[in-house]
Amino acid sequence: MPDRTASNDLTGRVALITGAGGAQGRSHALLLAERGAQVIVQDIRDDATEETVRQVRGQGGTALPMVCDVADIPDYTGRIAEAERELGHIDIIVNNAGVSGKRLAFEDINQEIFGRMTSVVIKGAFFGTQAVVPGMKARGYGKIVNISSGAPLRGMVSGSHYTGAKAALHGLTRSWALELAPFGIRVNLVAPGFVVSDMTRANHSEERMRERGRAMPLGRHVEPLDMSYAVAYLASAESDMVTGQEIPVNAGFTIVPW
Ligand SMILES: NC(=O)c1ccc[n+]([C@@H]2O[C@H](COP(=O)([O-])OP(=O)(O)OC[C@H]3O[C@@H](n4cnc5c(N)ncnc54)[C@H](O)[C@@H]3O)[C@@H](O)[C@H]2O)c1
Repeated sequence: MPDRTASNDLTGRVALITGAGGAQGRSHALLLAERGAQVIVQDIRDDATEETVRQVRGQGGTALPMVCDVADIPDYTGRIAEAERELGHIDIIVNNAGVSGKRLAFEDINQEIFGRMTSVVIKGAFFGTQAVVPGMKARGYGKIVNISSGAPLRGMVSGSHYTGAKAALHGLTRSWALELAPFGIRVNLVAPGFVVSDMTRANHSEERMRERGRAMPLGRHVEPLDMSYAVAYLASAESDMVTGQEIPVNAGFTIVPW
């Protein structure tokens, strides 16, 4: 039976958000903290991590910084173990860290570029999640939210390494959802549309981004907070009967007629 008292309140939960120094990750940390979760703010950039921690604390929340590279598995998983010891548990992981890199034609993507992309996006999410699952299993509850992209839904010119790495998260989401459902662990994915952030500013002019936003069925690009509402839903008890699913939050980008 559905729990009639289920709400989006996250009091008592601990959430690890990777890439939380960036536009979307910071917004997720702020919203999850606003809804009561203690947040572990993970990012490779220490100034950006500190800024998110400062903002979470500034709104009265609890935040623990974790500065490391999610692709450095021994270091990253060691820090996860430390954070678990410090906070007692990790109930939610949001695998959000990502790099888009330079837009490159298929033939120009060498093994080094491919390797870094897949290490951050796939390996980081894979082994970070593997590190938090035993605790979730022991408590019989957990929420795993993978952050993909619109790229695997539509394809992307000059970004096939990014598209391929993000596409792997869709398969992992379904497989983990099946394997972990008996332990009360829900696994879902959010696929953002175009969000204005450092990542997109690196490849597009402000004018081009505004133009693209106006062309969306809903008339503007998604903002980080639009994404955070979906993440917070998937992190909360309100989505306890949702697993192995994907929520594209993209202003209708994937239904634009060709
Ligand atoms: N911006 C978009 O239009 C868009 C669209 C679809 C999907 N996404 C995805 O959304 C997520 C968030 O991106 P964003 O828009 O906030 O961009 P962003 O560049 O602002 O944030 C990404 C964050 O990830 C961090 N990061 C990068 N490599 C890392 C590593 N190895 N270890 C730890 N942290 C690392 C960066 O320092 C940065 O703070 C990414 O996974 C991205 O691929 C973004």
